[in-house]
Amino acid sequence: MSSNDNSSNAYSDFHLQFIGGEWQKGKDDSINTDTNPYNGDTIVEIQQATKDQLDEAYDAADQAQAKWAKTTPAERAAVMYKVVSILDQRQEEIVDWLIKESGSTRIKAMVEFSSARAITLEAASFPNRVHGEIRPSNTPGKENFIYREPIGVVAVISPWNFPLHLTQRSIAPALALGNAVVLKPASDTPITGGLLLAKVFEEAGLPKGLLNVVVGSGSEIGDAIVEHKAPSLVSFTGSTSVGQHIGELANGGEYIKQVALELGGNSPFVVLKDADIEQAVKAAAFGKFLHQGQICIAINRVIVEDEIYDDFVERFLAHVKTLNVGDPSKQDTAIGPIINEKQLKSLKDKIAKAQDEGAKMILSGEIEGQVVPPHIFTEVTREMDLSCNEVFGPLVGIIRAKDEDDALSIANDSMYGLSSAVFTADMQKGLRFARGIRAGMTHINDISVNDESNTPFGGEKNSGIGRFNGEWVLEEFTRTHWISMQNKPRQYPF
Ligand code: TAP
Repeated sequence: MSSNDNSSNAYSDFHLQFIGGEWQKGKDDSINTDTNPYNGDTIVEIQQATKDQLDEAYDAADQAQAKWAKTTPAERAAVMYKVVSILDQRQEEIVDWLIKESGSTRIKAMVEFSSARAITLEAASFPNRVHGEIRPSNTPGKENFIYREPIGVVAVISPWNFPLHLTQRSIAPALALGNAVVLKPASDTPITGGLLLAKVFEEAGLPKGLLNVVVGSGSEIGDAIVEHKAPSLVSFTGSTSVGQHIGELANGGEYIKQVALELGGNSPFVVLKDADIEQAVKAAAFGKFLHQGQICIAINRVIVEDEIYDDFVERFLAHVKTLNVGDPSKQDTAIGPIINEKQLKSLKDKIAKAQDEGAKMILSGEIEGQVVPPHIFTEVTREMDLSCNEVFGPLVGIIRAKDEDDALSIANDSMYGLSSAVFTADMQKGLRFARGIRAGMTHINDISVNDESNTPFGGEKNSGIGRFNGEWVLEEFTRTHWISMQNKPRQYPF
């Protein structure tokens, strides 16, 4: 068992599940061994939850939600403000957990902490931002009211890469809007993706049963979470393949439910010939290598116009060589460990495949433990694996584009459509180019890695359905109810 020792009241007992407001042992025979991806140390062993415990969590959520939905906006906002204050008090403890459990560098852990804090603060405003409408009627004597109500119980399934933020991005809005949550964090990050937040919400005084954290393997318990009668919405963040499976279950099973799917990406980062190359080089390095490239909106394809290609490559190589690789807890480490052996193997396969396909490897290095140094490939074409598929690691392919039109065509040549970026000195050109990209998000003269709590985050094509943050998540986590009122007797034809 583990506890974080920054302060005497640091949270502990992370070997337990959080169901119905009680910390209890998992009753399944299987154990989740949570390890530190940098040094392999065991952090905690968690006995996993059974399907009966999942039922218990859903029952608790269902019961607690009805009462929670009747609370005033001020009461729900107060819990969110309290959570923000606890996050602030425990910032160091939380950042340490992110480093230890998810292999976050200190820089990335701080970015993640700030994002999780920001969405919690934004969520505090949600209870007072929900509003209905009155619409005219063509039926004499009728009034139309459109109510927005809590959606009920929300199932949240979250990934390991930004566990704290990507979990909080669902649960804070869900709870603020009067819903209850059953959360399954990723098996690699049960603490930062769930149990730690349960401690925070418990300390903030969230009534029992509204937030339940069920630790279990996705392949064992995932279908049961989605197919259960209780949730009206499944908020899933993870791979496209699992998202597709969840979509099928949610819309083709016994109980139809809504889905919000935040899936994989293949973000293009386009450098046009008039761009500030030095700035583009620094952006490309940060947007590619932050969190070892394990971000759905990380730069996946660098596309550079022919005239500046060689210059960009030379400067990018020189800059990337200066990055520190290794222990994520060190202040100046830029690239830490890959999350697990499965992901590591997939990266080794990708390196071999890129070479087989004829890409030129101009930077590589020894893989030590789970730490993969940056690998740069040039003369990559749009057909190669590095271009077509999500990398999720510190490998990058640089593609040569003939001109602006060719760059746009390459950028759009993907089954994904999450984030994207374009560098140019001409803002009008940048805007025109950005509007030509089929993606949910495009950033001009910045990296593809951006997430602000008041702007719509999400993708299209195989990157998913739905939007997080701001009023977009208000719609996602509430239901619309049309109520009409007939004020004088209506004349029926028969
Ligand atoms: P997944 O394998 O899809 O895992 C994500 C979550 O789904 C985990 O909690 C996992 O549980 C669970 N899961 C696995 N199989 C399931 C099933 N059959 N039913 C229900 N849940 C199941 O992805 P990952 O490996 O954690 O993350 C990498 C991928 O996620 C990348 O493709 C990345 O782009 C994408 N991602 C997207 C975003 C956004 S915002 N679009 C953010 C982060 C990651 P276990 O851990 O127990 O297997």
